[in-house]
Amino acid sequence: MAASIENRGQFGSKLGFILSAAGSAVGLGNIWKFPGKAYNCGGGAFLITYILMVALIGTTVMLAEFVIGRKTQKNAIGAIRELNAKYSWVGGLGILTGFIILCYYCQVGGWTIKYIIAYITESATVYADPTAYFLDMLGVNGFPLEGAIIYPLIFLGLTSFIISRGVADGIEKLSKFLMPLLFVLLIGLMIRACTLPGASEGVAYMLHFDPSTINGNTFLVALGQAFFSLSLGMGVMITYASYLSKDENLITNTGVVCVLDTSVALFAGFMIIPAVFATGIDPGMGGGFAFATLAGVFMSIPGGTIFGLLFYALLFFAAITSSISILEGTVAYLVEEKGMERKKTVVWASIIIFAIGIFYTLSQAFLPIKGIWWSMEGLQFPIFGDFMEYLTDRLLLPFGAFFTTVFVGWIWGTDNAIKEATSDGKYKFALAPAWAILVKFVAPAAILCIIIAGLFLGMSIS
Ligand code: PHE
Repeated sequence: MAASIENRGQFGSKLGFILSAAGSAVGLGNIWKFPGKAYNCGGGAFLITYILMVALIGTTVMLAEFVIGRKTQKNAIGAIRELNAKYSWVGGLGILTGFIILCYYCQVGGWTIKYIIAYITESATVYADPTAYFLDMLGVNGFPLEGAIIYPLIFLGLTSFIISRGVADGIEKLSKFLMPLLFVLLIGLMIRACTLPGASEGVAYMLHFDPSTINGNTFLVALGQAFFSLSLGMGVMITYASYLSKDENLITNTGVVCVLDTSVALFAGFMIIPAVFATGIDPGMGGGFAFATLAGVFMSIPGGTIFGLLFYALLFFAAITSSISILEGTVAYLVEEKGMERKKTVVWASIIIFAIGIFYTLSQAFLPIKGIWWSMEGLQFPIFGDFMEYLTDRLLLPFGAFFTTVFVGWIWGTDNAIKEATSDGKYKFALAPAWAILVKFVAPAAILCIIIAGLFLGMSIS
């Protein structure tokens, strides 16, 4: 991808695009964030709400982003400027969103490297007390040099290297077999987790649908999670679709990417929640399910350490394809719109992202930092890291998505958008009238309600 920014190349194949878009979508959001939210928001009730949000609003916004990108063949900000120059400031907001997401994304990405190494060198220590191992990485026992500094730096360094050298084409090729491998491994681990003794309660929790557990917060969390997981609301999908040729069917692409991303989230949910019930490992912070709880599954299978290693390697890979897509958006904007030099921009952006990101990990369990945050007046969030996630998932991404739907529905117009979506009538779009209503009325109204409710109702993140 990065290499083609300069010469405006196009995706070599349909699969290349789907894999790149899915590579951006499938990441820590699905495996690290999703299960915790499903667990906290009532299991089955959350699953139904989440699927509804993806089906109605996620697909609507994704098609809107694809259409803008392919129509203009430009990066997110350039694209919006071309269609209506008055609104290019929204691009700046997307850049801010990307910055904040990357701050914590690189920290958690670093944790995946820590766990790859842990499963190679000291799996017995992880198995002995998975929660203690995880919390130690977060700094309960002293400054977390590895968890907050060394491994996040390696993760961010790799992301920046790939972006600045334009070797992302290689990543696209790698995705062709690593993505399917992740899919297969997740299904295998999900089956194992669901068949652990005691896991059936967890399965029942995930399948039990009790409408009375759905409240405003369930919708807030589900929508924010859907945008984060589908990479919507900050122009990433606009940029990716700008490399697509007119022959591609945007409508089926939207369906495929949304179904793939949601399946991965569901597999992760049905892998982790039953494991929580079976093993009783609930580390309670920092999204520890994907790290501590899973040790209980790996411990229980023959060759589990190898599977653990493979799992974190694939999670690392899924995370880096997503972090590349976020950093690329930011860098492309600064280079193409502000005339900055590419390598310098990458270095400076990385330094700032890293410096702020450290506090994400430090705020989890390292008392000197956690203590400062705690001592602040009127604190809404027990952890600074939650505040970062709140800003992106509850405010900035929904706002970006809101703007995208208003822009397509009201400013650029649904007729133009549908014309582009169907490649000037080449492809059938039976649901076009429904999509027009969704993009014009339903999605913006729902997103706006949710942003406002998020501001005034509870400020929790899960
Ligand atoms: N969708 C990615 C994930 O689930 C994260 C992401 C968010 C990527 C926003 C791009 C834009 O991990």
